[in-house]
Amino acid sequence: MAMYSRLPGSVALITLQNPPVNALSAAVRQGIVDTVQRALKDPKVTSVVICGQNGKFCGGADIREFAGPMLGPPLVPMIHAIEAVDKPVAAAIEGVALGGGLELALGCHYRIAHSKALLGLPEVTLGLLPGAGGSQRLPRLIGLTAALDLITTGRHISAAEALKLGILDQVTDNNVVDQAVEFVRRVAGQPLDSRRLSTLPCPCPPDVDSLLDKAMVKVRQRSRGALAPVACVQALMAAASLPYTQGMEKERDLLTTLFNSGQARALQYAFFSQRVVGKWSLPSGASWDNSAARTISKAAVIGLGTMGRGIVVALALTGISVVAVETQEKQLAEASQAVPAMLQREAGRRSLATPPGVISFSSNLQDVSEVELVIEAVFEDMSLKLQVFRHLTSVCRPGTLLCSNTSGLDIDQLAAVTQSPGLVVGMHFFAPAHVMKLLEVVYGPRSSPEAVATAMQLGKRMGKVSVAVGNCPGFVGNRMLKPYLEQANFLLEEGATPQQVDEALEEFGFPMGVFRMSDLSGLDVGWRIRKEAGLTGPGVESTRTRQGRRYSPLPDQVCEAGRLGQKTGRGWYQYDGPGGRVARSDPWVHIFLEAYRAEHGLVARSIAPEEILERCLYALINEGFNILQDAMAAGPEDIDAIYVFGYGWPRHHGGPMFHAGQVGLGRILERLQHHHHNHPDVPHLKPSTLLRRLVAVGSPPVQTWREFINKERVHS
Ligand code: 3HC
Ligand code: NAI
Repeated sequence: MAMYSRLPGSVALITLQNPPVNALSAAVRQGIVDTVQRALKDPKVTSVVICGQNGKFCGGADIREFAGPMLGPPLVPMIHAIEAVDKPVAAAIEGVALGGGLELALGCHYRIAHSKALLGLPEVTLGLLPGAGGSQRLPRLIGLTAALDLITTGRHISAAEALKLGILDQVTDNNVVDQAVEFVRRVAGQPLDSRRLSTLPCPCPPDVDSLLDKAMVKVRQRSRGALAPVACVQALMAAASLPYTQGMEKERDLLTTLFNSGQARALQYAFFSQRVVGKWSLPSGASWDNSAARTISKAAVIGLGTMGRGIVVALALTGISVVAVETQEKQLAEASQAVPAMLQREAGRRSLATPPGVISFSSNLQDVSEVELVIEAVFEDMSLKLQVFRHLTSVCRPGTLLCSNTSGLDIDQLAAVTQSPGLVVGMHFFAPAHVMKLLEVVYGPRSSPEAVATAMQLGKRMGKVSVAVGNCPGFVGNRMLKPYLEQANFLLEEGATPQQVDEALEEFGFPMGVFRMSDLSGLDVGWRIRKEAGLTGPGVESTRTRQGRRYSPLPDQVCEAGRLGQKTGRGWYQYDGPGGRVARSDPWVHIFLEAYRAEHGLVARSIAPEEILERCLYALINEGFNILQDAMAAGPEDIDAIYVFGYGWPRHHGGPMFHAGQVGLGRILERLQHHHHNHPDVPHLKPSTLLRRLVAVGSPPVQTWREFINKERVHS
């Protein structure tokens, strides 16, 4: 709702009240309509200020209402009515003015903000466009070029940037409502025509067509297959070329199309899943409600390779002081040059609330004795990690949290060699660790709620989406990746090329297909893991069945040929040289695949993109159901957040589990049965029991699976 009060000096104050972000629910919109009418009718009122309760102006339309029928007064006429008022109306912006919140402010005649406020039109991230006049008013205010940037990226901007762009009339460090009241008193009686944005022309550069064409190409490249960014550009084309009223019609038509698309539902689901996973709970019942997190101010990182360096930077950026330990002299020297430079670059990019933490470099593990938390990031080798954990537990003060960045080794085994197994958890970062948003917090059977809470909170401080996951080989993300990679290799055996597989996946929306991705990460990573698992290496027979199941030796043979991906300039593709980034088709790979097929009596067939997608994605999804069944993830939202934030799953498809629901669980089951029938020696294609159970009860919506699984667990 909205509260009305009249301040001394003829100013009406309208306060939006809908905690926590004053979203524009039906009740709030009704409140605004009523209070604006009241201010308009009151002859003693000469000007109006609109503000939000509890230090937040407005977080936009109420996203929760999108799922149901539209009730209450619509936003567009409400904002028009405000713009038409013949008394000056100012928005007093504190905290946030986002989406419909900024659109409401754009309907006001003036905008005054606190210096710490954030503004933006993030609708594109929810699969929408600014549909309450934002796509038409903003370009009229700040010009087409700047509006294209803000609306197609959805980025939040600071008050300082908004002032520079001309969105704001004034920025203050003081009480923003007081400032706005003073402002409207000053301007009362002045003509308002030039303040009504809908009446202004849209400032466009001379090469407007080329600007719009380039913007269209850019959004199509950046978010392949996503509808909303394209619609945003189309709405801005309308702003540039049509009168306001026709532009608004175009905005409405585009919004209606987007609103009814599966993509908007997927992106709104992704918004809420990100928040659901933050409210973690473990099968033991531990959660934020009953677990206290420790505040960490001193930490250590062991091993300064690819991951360790990024983790040091991520920690230091939050103001934590870090002891960075590396035993190899050359690596230590390199890291002590590279890490401060990385930190400086990153700190320059962000506006840090606190100064970065101090980093000290050492080759001596003894130097970590005073820290509160250690993150180990040495090679993925269990015996080495056990040695490091034994050493740490003897060096560190009792009560120090010991974490491992392992990509999939057993956390419990590491905990077992320490004095306090309860204080051991996995903190699985993704490369580059100071950039990637995902953190898997891995709890073992003995990890204490306090240790999990501390790691989750530390992740949050670092700006990560932290997801609590159970301790199983590969945890959640890498466990699901295994069947996906496996299918990709089988498809090559059967006749596909790396390009065909990658193109199908990139067309689906992945930024990189599986083979391009593997070349980037380094093919030796998986090779080493397969060697450790006894699947390949000296003495292992080169057959296509290993450990009782179908196995493709293709990736091992590529590694044996010295092709380790981008780092060696050759992998599934060829590059300009070691470290090259542009993947080109390599005749060597095609000859190699032909020879391989001939050797094993395989006849290449033409494989359609649909089969590539089904085999790769449904195998991955099937493993997701197994993970839910095994309680290694608390719900489908956790899996989806992991894939969206860590593995490049296209956000507009929500995540693998959401996607399964959209495709239809019955269809996924039927296709898995079909592929498993054709490939009975591939256990990953055998439909999961949970999937079967969900289909049997009528394929309920993804939002109800968590409850369904918990109930089944209680009854079993
Ligand atoms: N509608 C409904 N609920 C919202 C909401 C919204 N617009 N914005 C936030 N919330 C809810 C969150 O779901 C969360 O609920 P929970 O406590 O039950 O989980 C609670 O408010 C707090 O949110 P956060 O945990 O995200 O709090 P932060 O302080 O970290 O962030 C924020 C605040 C920056 C406002 C962030 O919530 C945000 O980005 N919100 C979405 C803003 C947005 O995209 N607005 C556009 C909406 S679409 C629109 O306006 C269409 C129009 O053009 C027609
Ligand atoms: P890396 O090979 O780049 O670096 C490992 C570093 O540890 C080397 O510099 C090595 O000298 C150092 N080291 C070895 N023993 C040590 C010891 N006893 N004390 C101190 N330093 C020691 O490895 P990378 O890629 O950084 O991986 C580290 C860990 O992170 C592994 O467990 C890996 O599985 C995991 N991981 C890797 C990811 C990646 O993309 N590279 C992603 C997520 C996790």
